[in-house]
Amino acid sequence: MLRYFFIALGLFFVLLAAVAGFRGQKSGKPPIEIFPDMDHQPKVKAQVPSNFFADDRGNRLPVAGTVPIGYEAPVSKDNPFPDEGKYRMVRYASGTDYKNTGRFGDQWGTGFPLPVTAELLQRGQERYTIYCSVCHGASGGGNGVAGQYGLVAIASFHQDRLRVMADGEIYNTIAHGKNTMLGYGAKIPVDDRWAIVAYVRALQMAQTATINDVPADERAKLEMPPQP
Ligand code: HEC
Repeated sequence: MLRYFFIALGLFFVLLAAVAGFRGQKSGKPPIEIFPDMDHQPKVKAQVPSNFFADDRGNRLPVAGTVPIGYEAPVSKDNPFPDEGKYRMVRYASGTDYKNTGRFGDQWGTGFPLPVTAELLQRGQERYTIYCSVCHGASGGGNGVAGQYGLVAIASFHQDRLRVMADGEIYNTIAHGKNTMLGYGAKIPVDDRWAIVAYVRALQMAQTATINDVPADERAKLEMPPQP
């Protein structure tokens, strides 16, 4: 019986040494962390100094020429905005008129509320390539790269329903999305949306145009030369 008592006592001292043995001792080594997760990150926290930079500020000032989100900068210094000053707020949408909604009353409207020029189409092509081509593809066939990553049923612009669709409805799809397509209204200002609509029309026309759409004096360049 006594034997068991001494064994139990011995185990008690071993336990005591294991739990309390090194308390109060200092160690230069970092503590052992079994699950460090992402507790330690060499990052700058907001409002905290950092000796990484010569001026010891953690937060950096914006680079010269930075334009706040939602604003645009003038084209050049000699050409500032007359009323707005340094920056001008970008018009994402305001008002209930055709230009802002694509609607006349409760009907989709067709036509462009700004002049359709070569510059507008170029702008539309650029914006389309940035915002739309990942899904709709460079030529609007609905075969953009997003399809390879599992996005299904991306609309092709070369279906009759979209060929005859009102310009205003396409404008609205860009602004507010449709079914599984999210809206781009918060990223694409009003004029750029119309530029994209114009470019979508150009893509559609590129698949359906006939020789009669070519100005008469340019046609000869496209027609087959007479065969010998
Ligand atoms: C993230 C992928 C994605 C992007 C980016 C995208 N779309 Fe779409 N779009 C879709 C999908 C998916 C559909 C089909 C939605 C549906 O089921 O009706 C669609 C449908 C459409 C339609 C047809 C709507 C209808 O009435 O049937 C138009 C027009 C369109 N997109 C234009 C655009 C334009 C212009 C842009 C660029 C501003 C754009 N999309 C950007 C995925 C995208």
